[in-house]
Amino acid sequence: MSGDTPTLSVQDLETHFFTRQGVAKAVDNVSFDVGKGEIMGLVGESGSGKSVTGFSIIGLVDPPGEVVGGKVMFNGSDLVGLPEEQMQQLRGNRIAMIFQDPMMTLNPVLRIDTQMIETLVTHDKSISKDEARQRSRDALGQVGIPSPDERLKAYPHQFSGGMRQRVAIAIALLNKPDLIIADEPTTALDVTIQGQILFEAQKLCRETGTALIWITHDLAVVAGLADKICVMYAGRIVEQGAIDDVLDHAVHPYTVGLLGSVPGHNTRGHRLYQIPGMTPSLLNLPKGCAFQARCPKADGTCEAEPGIDEPVPGRQVRCFHPQMEAAATGGQEGTPS
Ligand SMILES: Nc1ncnc2c1ncn2[C@@H]1O[C@H](COP(=O)(O)OP(=O)(O)OP(=O)(O)O)[C@@H](O)[C@H]1O
Ligand SMILES: [Mg+2]
Repeated sequence: MSGDTPTLSVQDLETHFFTRQGVAKAVDNVSFDVGKGEIMGLVGESGSGKSVTGFSIIGLVDPPGEVVGGKVMFNGSDLVGLPEEQMQQLRGNRIAMIFQDPMMTLNPVLRIDTQMIETLVTHDKSISKDEARQRSRDALGQVGIPSPDERLKAYPHQFSGGMRQRVAIAIALLNKPDLIIADEPTTALDVTIQGQILFEAQKLCRETGTALIWITHDLAVVAGLADKICVMYAGRIVEQGAIDDVLDHAVHPYTVGLLGSVPGHNTRGHRLYQIPGMTPSLLNLPKGCAFQARCPKADGTCEAEPGIDEPVPGRQVRCFHPQMEAAATGGQEGTPS
């Protein structure tokens, strides 16, 4: 692999759901790269297409959904249309997904040690059972499971929900995959545990070069974790760039609104901004920009489809009216009120 090839390069990805009510473009022309060791935060409101993006990358979209266009280049080769058998091998091996529901990863009828050791041995046939057990124990310790030796012998149902999620995360980290897609895995965990898991994930990426996509609606999580951020709205990425740049100077009115609705040190005693209106149904999108009905900047121009622009170097935005004054003044002065 050449040093320049990103671990993952998603290009013009399109995933549609063919429902009785019509075609929902859940992922519409989505493109981004995640390099070796890089962490990308994928954020957006409920229903914006974050999970479907993740599932599309790993080939887990089921009918009525279908990846209908684009490429998912993984270490330089396209995963779209790869036979299921090869995809399965990648999933158990080079690509891991952590789901919101840990039971999507865990097998309810197998002891934790059996599952972890099997994961390791499938990946590396030469590993001894003792070594596999040692690594499993270490992995449980890493995600904050007390007495990992005893816990290894337990079945999934003997753990609390939060503990089960930590085990699922430990399994995802075990083989040091090239790519991890984590779909809101820490939402249900308490903040100290969440912090510990984010720290371990970050460490893994730095040390082993794992590329990580962290899906969440929690901007605070992404702020502390990610190198770059993609903001999704109604199936499209409306803004992407380096994390600090975007958080300090968001230019898409949707991102500006999202940031304005997060409690911060200077918002105490003030009412938080709330983006007016609701996420539109994908089956009933307006012509042009999907955000126009909720956008303080919208005008007649927005009835056309905004393309991807680069108003500031390194930043991609889909908007006819990027809030450049926010970029210029350095922060939330651009928050609509
Ligand atoms: N099985 C399905 N059948 C029909 N449409 C679907 C299906 N799954 C997803 N969709 C469509 O895809 C859209 C995006 O769903 P997705 O689960 O990716 O949202 P999300 O951003 O992950 O939301 P959340 O934050 O609630 O997890 C949905 O709004 C819906 O229109
Ligand atoms: Mg989701």
